[in-house]
Amino acid sequence: MYILGIESSCDDTSAAVLQDTRILSNVIASQDVHQKFGGVVPELASRAHQQNIIPVVEVALHKAKIEKKQLDAVAFTRGPGLLGSLLVGTSFAKSFALGLGIPIIEVDHLQAHILMHFIDDGTEGGHHPEFPFLCLTVSGGHTQIVQVNSASEMVVLGKTIDDAAGEAFDKAAKIMGLPYPGGPEIDKLAKSGNPLAFSFPASSMKGLDYSFSGLKTSFLYFLRDRLKEDDQFIEKHKADLAASVQHTIIKMLLNKVKRAITETGIRQIALAGGVSANSGLRLALLKMAAENGWETFIPKFQYTTDNAAMIGIAGYFKYLEGDFAGQDVVPYSKSR
Ligand code: KG4
Ligand code: ZN
Repeated sequence: MYILGIESSCDDTSAAVLQDTRILSNVIASQDVHQKFGGVVPELASRAHQQNIIPVVEVALHKAKIEKKQLDAVAFTRGPGLLGSLLVGTSFAKSFALGLGIPIIEVDHLQAHILMHFIDDGTEGGHHPEFPFLCLTVSGGHTQIVQVNSASEMVVLGKTIDDAAGEAFDKAAKIMGLPYPGGPEIDKLAKSGNPLAFSFPASSMKGLDYSFSGLKTSFLYFLRDRLKEDDQFIEKHKADLAASVQHTIIKMLLNKVKRAITETGIRQIALAGGVSANSGLRLALLKMAAENGWETFIPKFQYTTDNAAMIGIAGYFKYLEGDFAGQDVVPYSKSR
């Protein structure tokens, strides 16, 4: 079975072709237009998707060496995300599938990040989690601990009540004057810094929920005070600041993971989403897992950020269930 996956929820236009669980192509057009604004500008994102979508799909089909008439279904991100961006992918999927006379499959972006763990990219065999497992999904828009009972049944055990972990990275980076997106910049700097150089309060919410907005505020006030004494403070302490803020975010994330594992008794833990590229988070989870006897599933770097292969694999599972969408389907911007 050949499935075309389409992802357009934020600032990456992506198309992928899967043969069952196997990736034949996974093409991503990133949008540089947002960089000078220090964040994604929704209106510009929709326009760029509109320009990119046709060429990206053409390249994906070409790389997969298949003709569009060989496709069995088109899977697309229905939400959550930026509505104008989602509309481009959704409208494209509907009309393309209608023209070909094949079904469409609506995919939830967050579930897709998780199901990426079942992809086969031909490089190594079969180390997939088994149901049920836990997944820490950490991206620019979301932070959740999910109990994954099957490809279609996922229970959110805890989530952020304000900023996402990726936003915490991006906002801290912005305060330090680093370019957008700031997560990878903090990650790079942190490698040569001391994570215990500065301490910031790690807020603790009840249950398995998170809150990251307090960290941003305390980081802002801390730097404001230090800059009054020394206007070169950030420049002189860049690496230590990055390492310390990263350390705090990781500590907050993993405290709740540990608690979720204790509460559910499920000892398989997966990472997903853009922030799962963070090298400090990967190492800290591996260390904690080794100490506690958990089994970890950490995605390859190229599959951590938004891509259409994850939409394709989520579509594959729905295809098996016969779970197709109607032509009247509309996108949703917020998690459901
Ligand atoms: O999943 P994603 O590509 O898009 C969303 O669905 O949000 O995640 C993007 C987020 C951004 O906040 C970015 O700064 C963060 O992932 N990110 C990282 C790293 N690479 C990407 N954060 C920390 N360390 C990284 N290495
Ligand atoms: Zn994402």
